[in-house]
Amino acid sequence: MGSSIDWARCGLGTGTLASLGRALPLAGVRRLLDTMLELGMPTIDTADSYGSGDCECLLAKAMAGRREQFNLVTKAGYRHGNLGGPLRPLNQFIKKGLQRMGKHRCFESSYLERCIHHSLKRLKTDRVEAFLLHDPPLDVIQSGSVEALFAKIKKQGSALHTGISSGDPEVLAAALERGLCDVIQSPAGLSAAGALGGVWALCESRSIHVIGNHVFEPSLLNDPSLTHERLMKASASLLPKSATILCGTGNPNHFRSTLAWIMDPMPREEAWRLAAGHR
Ligand SMILES: NC(=O)c1ccc[n+]([C@@H]2O[C@H](COP(=O)([O-])OP(=O)(O)OC[C@H]3O[C@@H](n4cnc5c(N)ncnc54)[C@H](OP(=O)(O)O)[C@@H]3O)[C@@H](O)[C@H]2O)c1
Repeated sequence: MGSSIDWARCGLGTGTLASLGRALPLAGVRRLLDTMLELGMPTIDTADSYGSGDCECLLAKAMAGRREQFNLVTKAGYRHGNLGGPLRPLNQFIKKGLQRMGKHRCFESSYLERCIHHSLKRLKTDRVEAFLLHDPPLDVIQSGSVEALFAKIKKQGSALHTGISSGDPEVLAAALERGLCDVIQSPAGLSAAGALGGVWALCESRSIHVIGNHVFEPSLLNDPSLTHERLMKASASLLPKSATILCGTGNPNHFRSTLAWIMDPMPREEAWRLAAGHR
């Protein structure tokens, strides 16, 4: 079960760390990881598709010599280019092309197995703490193929834990029903809480670890009464007490302040009132 790892309360979200035109220099990523370790927050969330593999490569460089101090969560299911060497920059354009053609997702077991092996290579490690399917559709969960895939990946030792990342309560509920998850990842912002509160409660009762993302919803931040601080304090109150909430940042001070907000959640009734007003 997910509880055998100390995931800690705040994790690093790396969705934009190596994005086209927005990549953080290696020295900046090292500083970010230094801050996480100083704060005792070792969890990093990534995916093979973030920067079409560049994000995992960047993390490997920044973790060099200290990989064992981090918990790595990676995901697969979005297709992207996999060119190496000097052709690497083309991968991000291939991903955009696949998106445009509507061929950007694949959840065939043989493909996903290859994905985790590519991720381990890029991350320069022999296992990740968790491997998640990245936004799978319901029919994939219901197909019965994911059970065998996850069992194989765990038997090989490529991932200690497996699970699903999704914002769809139906997908998450079906995955929980089938016993597929040690870990789930879901949106954790105010507008997600109404639909996902039941899933989080079920996870808590079964010791399934919850990772929350997308707390700083840009549409809510347009409301002058909703600051980053209030949004994070509300989510920290609504999610299970052991949940890890991701902070998508390249700025160590933003990671630091986010953690301080998580550790000082708002009263639960106030958080539910806010969530009820933003469904
Ligand atoms: N389908 C999925 O599995 C999925 C979907 C969405 C997200 N995710 C994961 O979740 C992570 C986070 O989600 P998200 O990308 O939606 O990002 P987020 O963490 O909700 O928001 C990121 C934004 O908030 C700003 N920010 C962070 N901390 C701040 C602070 N203390 N004060 C002020 N601004 C702050 C960041 O700016 P700065 O850069 O200036 O700090 C950035 O603009 C992603 O990186 C990814 O790892 C997964």
